[in-house]
Amino acid sequence: MFEIVERQELAQGTIVSNWIKAPKIAVKAKPGQFVILRANETGERIPLTMADTDPEKGLINVIYMVVGKSTALFKTLQVGDSYRDVIGPLGAATHLEKVGKVVCVGGGTGIAVLHPITRGLKNIGNHVFAVIGSRSKDLLIMEDRMRAASHELLICTDDGTYGHHGFVTDKLKEVLENNKDIGLAVCIGPVPMMRACCNVTKGFNVKTLVSLNPIMVDGTGMCGCCRVRVGGEMKFACVDGPEFDGHQVDFDELNLRLRSYLPEEKLSYDMFKS
Ligand code: FES
Repeated sequence: MFEIVERQELAQGTIVSNWIKAPKIAVKAKPGQFVILRANETGERIPLTMADTDPEKGLINVIYMVVGKSTALFKTLQVGDSYRDVIGPLGAATHLEKVGKVVCVGGGTGIAVLHPITRGLKNIGNHVFAVIGSRSKDLLIMEDRMRAASHELLICTDDGTYGHHGFVTDKLKEVLENNKDIGLAVCIGPVPMMRACCNVTKGFNVKTLVSLNPIMVDGTGMCGCCRVRVGGEMKFACVDGPEFDGHQVDFDELNLRLRSYLPEEKLSYDMFKS
């Protein structure tokens, strides 16, 4: 059993941060890797990329947004409660390399995924610009942790309630215009955001990594649920990813696959709430 030792509600309770006892995972996990969690024996398997680890205390940090039945069930778990299963670390770790200057862009809960990657890129000697954004100030997460993980942090909100009034792509473009020697961009967030970021970085010919979140079941390359098309080839996000060259990803297909079960997901969530 994987006990929750610390719990925090963020973004007006729509996002929850859990520190979970998982010592074997905590000592092995690397930036970019994920775990699959189940709340109970009949629960759905939910993949979440770790936002942080504390190997000494044997803890991992996952941050999720409540978007449906399973994440709503997760939200009912309090400090002292346990997840039935936490499997991992899964997926390939981020290939952290020293390129000089990098820009890391995160939106929504993508910021949680981006956090250890940003810190890892800084720790090996890169100069790291970070750009994070949300719809409004109330929904922005991890500002302090991202400030500590980077050299310069730029904040954007769609409604202008905090930082730059506009999208993360505005600031991404600005950073790229002012720093012609950026060697890598890492962009993680909702699919439309990642696609828009890739369109910007393509214009500057900057290598761009994105972290994909297709539907997953086993997380070990067995079921084929997490198929994504990258550079015209079929890949499994759980073992070949979750990170891929953003300029090669077929975002249209990813979007279609993510929407495959929307009616069923809505029905299940409505039944859970009633
Ligand atoms: Fe089953 Fe990737 S989740 S193959």
